[in-house]
Amino acid sequence: MYFKECISILDFLCSQEAIFLENARLYEESQRNLDILRESEQRFRYLFESTPTIAMQCYNRHRQVIAWNTASESLYGYSQTEALGKQLEDLIIPPHMREFVIKAVNKWLFEGIPIPPSELGLMHKDGSIVSVYSSHAIFTNMAGEKEMYCFDIDIRDRKAAEAAIKQKSQELEQALQYLQEAQLQIVQSEKMSALGNLVAGVAHEINNPVGFIAGNVREAIASVINITEYLRLYQEKFPNPGDEITQKAAEFEIEYLLEDLPKMLRSMEIGCERIKNISNSLTTFSRSDKDYKVLFDIHKGIDSTILILKHRLKANKKRPAIEIDTEYDNLPQVKCFPGQLNQVFMNILANAIDALDESSIGRNCAELENNPNRINIKTFLEDDRVKISIVDNGKGMSEVVKQKIFDRQFTTKSVGKGTGLGLAIARQIVVDKHGGNLEVSSVLGEGTEFIITIPLNE
Ligand SMILES: Nc1ncnc2c1ncn2[C@@H]1O[C@H](COP(=O)(O)OP(=O)(O)OP(=O)(O)O)[C@@H](O)[C@H]1O
Ligand SMILES: [Mg+2]
Repeated sequence: MYFKECISILDFLCSQEAIFLENARLYEESQRNLDILRESEQRFRYLFESTPTIAMQCYNRHRQVIAWNTASESLYGYSQTEALGKQLEDLIIPPHMREFVIKAVNKWLFEGIPIPPSELGLMHKDGSIVSVYSSHAIFTNMAGEKEMYCFDIDIRDRKAAEAAIKQKSQELEQALQYLQEAQLQIVQSEKMSALGNLVAGVAHEINNPVGFIAGNVREAIASVINITEYLRLYQEKFPNPGDEITQKAAEFEIEYLLEDLPKMLRSMEIGCERIKNISNSLTTFSRSDKDYKVLFDIHKGIDSTILILKHRLKANKKRPAIEIDTEYDNLPQVKCFPGQLNQVFMNILANAIDALDESSIGRNCAELENNPNRINIKTFLEDDRVKISIVDNGKGMSEVVKQKIFDRQFTTKSVGKGTGLGLAIARQIVVDKHGGNLEVSSVLGEGTEFIITIPLNE
C-alpha cells in the first residue's frame, strides 16, 4: 500500500517536473521570439527613421501625423515634435489641393479606393512648393484601425533639370526657326541678287550708248534746223540754180526730206527718252537695299516689276496676251526696303501669270476672248497704311491649297517650275520686315486676290 502511494507521488512529481521543464522551454522560446520581434521592430524603426532619401510619414484615420521620419523633417521643414498630432492637410498640402486630398484619403481609408503614386507639389514650412514623387500604403493596426503611410521622394533636382532641358529645347527650336528663316532669305536674295545684278548690268551698259545717242540727236536736231534754214535761204536767193541742182533736188525729194528729217530726229529723241525710262526702271527694280528703310515710290516698284515680267505677258501659242490694268491712288512715298518689296510684287505677279497660264489650258479662242486673261493692280491709302491689291482671273485655288500657300516648300507646280518659297518669302518680307499684312482670297476656277498692306511709317 505504502509502495503504491509512493509510486503515485513519484508519478505526480515527475509530471510536475515535466510541466516545469516544458514551461521553462516555452518561456525560453517566447523570450527568443520576443528578442526577434524586438530586433525586427528596431530594424523597422531604424529603416523608417534613417532612410535619408525617402520622407516617410504615417497618418491615423483622422489624418493626424503619428510618425514623421528625419527625411520628412528636412524635406518639409517641420521637426518630428512639430509634426506629430497635426493634420496632414494643415501641414504639407497647399490650400488649392486640400479638399481634393481629404476626399482622396477618406475614400481610401473608408472605401478602399487606393491613391495611385504620382508627382505632387507639396508645401514646405516656409510656404515654398516641394516637388515629390509620392506613393502610399494602407495598414490595419491591432485595434483594426486603418493607418496611411506616405513615402515621398524629393524630385526637385529632376524637375529643375527637366525645366532646364525644356528651356534649352525651346531655345534650340527658336534658333532652328531663325536659321530656317535666314536660309529662306538667303536662297531668295541669292536668286534676286543674281537677277538684280544682271538687270543692273544691262541697264548700266545701255545707259552709256543711249546717253551718247541722245546727246548727239539733240545736236543733230539743232544742226538740221540750221542746215534747213541755210538751204531755204539758198533757194530764196538763187531760185534758178540750174538743171543739175534742180534734178538732184527732185531725185532726193529735198522738199519732203527737209520736212521729214526734223520729225525723224524728234522720234529718235523720244525713243532715247523711252530707253532711258526703261533703263531707270530696271535700275529701280534691281535696287539693293540698305540696312535701314528708305522712302520709296511704290508705283515705280510695281511698274518696274511689270517691265521685268513683260516677256511673260506677251501672247504665245497657248493663249493671247495677258492684260495688266493699273489703278494707282495718289500715294505718298513709303518708308520701306524697296528691293525687298519689289521681290514681293515679283513673287505675286509671277504666281498670277502662272495661274493664268494654267487656266488657259483647254480653253478655246472664243472662251479666252470672252473672258480675257487679266491682272488688275490697285493701290489705295487706308488710314496710315498703303494697300496694294493684285487680282487675277486665273485658275484660283481650293480651300485646302489656300490654307497651305504660305508654308515653306508648298507648291502645286511641277518639279523645276516651283520651289514653294515665293509666298513664304513674300509674307516674311511684308509681315516681319515691314510690320504689314498679306491676305489672300480666292475662288477655285474664278481667280485670286492678294492684298499687301504696308504701314506708311513703321
Ligand atoms: N494667284 C494664284 N492663283 C492660284 N494659285 C496660286 C496663286 N498664287 C499662289 N498660288 C498657289 O500657291 C502655291 C505656292 O506659291 P509660292 O509662290 O509660294 O510657290 P510656287 O509658285 O509654287 O513656287 P516658287 O517658289 O517658284 O514661287 C502655288 O504652287 C500655287 O498652288
Ligand atoms: Mg511663286
